[in-house]
Amino acid sequence: MKGILLAGGSGSRLYPMTRTTSKQLLPVYDKPLIYYPLSTLMDLGITEMVVISTPRDLPGIRSLLGDGAEFGLRLSYRVQNRPEGIAQSLLIASDFIDEDICLILGDNLFLLNGELARLRSLASGQALETAVVVLCPVKDPERFGVADCDAGGRVLRLVEKPKLPTSNLAVTGLYFYPSDVAGLAATLRPSARGELEITDLNNLYLAQGRLRALRLERESRWLDAGTPDALLEASELAARAWRNERKPAGYPEEMARRRGLISQEDYEALLRSMKPGTPYLEHLRALSASLWRS
Ligand code: G1P
Repeated sequence: MKGILLAGGSGSRLYPMTRTTSKQLLPVYDKPLIYYPLSTLMDLGITEMVVISTPRDLPGIRSLLGDGAEFGLRLSYRVQNRPEGIAQSLLIASDFIDEDICLILGDNLFLLNGELARLRSLASGQALETAVVVLCPVKDPERFGVADCDAGGRVLRLVEKPKLPTSNLAVTGLYFYPSDVAGLAATLRPSARGELEITDLNNLYLAQGRLRALRLERESRWLDAGTPDALLEASELAARAWRNERKPAGYPEEMARRRGLISQEDYEALLRSMKPGTPYLEHLRALSASLWRS
């Protein structure tokens, strides 16, 4: 499975922080926000990805991530000229989608536990027959796409940012699609806010009986870091995971080593090439000593 990391948008809810820089480059604890969704795709076993951003922000993101080789990845880049919706990313990357695709939003932070194995098998198993959305119970569903489910947990419909949500199940920014997704996305029309809505695309799959929903388990955490409060909460979450449990969240170098994408020698060379004395580097060294070497 290939990946699309969508790091677009104007970050209006984070203004003025986003006045001169990309939301996805803002700090979350000890690293840029984009490292988290990047590491999540890597954790799922995805190594070939397209990163999409705005004309203003793409150069900064590209200079941060490069061609991905240091993380054992193959990264390429595409521009989204205007903020015309998440589903537009599938049109922008349509030439890249010759197999199943996993789309992740650049401001989404996942700390996955139990369901990692299930998600990995989606990403590495047989070709997908259905689209898969990942749901998470939240306190403020009106901020998100929301899944309206029947008593048996079957999704009846998805609603984008409902004023009066019918459930507390938000649709997270992690989506799995069969390789026909670009064709389906091409049939979408812009919504009232002028965007090609990912919720409309998912509803198309639902109408065809080709949508599955996977619910995050209680120990997993998910955040859309698109507001100042959520950005702070994301930092606290990542810092707590590190301080209390030494749980690595959002370290692509460590993920590359753990997933066997780079050798121990490459990893150590990468660490040597980094600016010395930073907390980030100390964390990578601690992980190297304690986690996957044991
Ligand atoms: C977008 C989607 C929404 C989804 C959310 C997840 O919202 O439109 O359905 O629940 O991402 O982060 P937006 O980024 O427009 O707030």
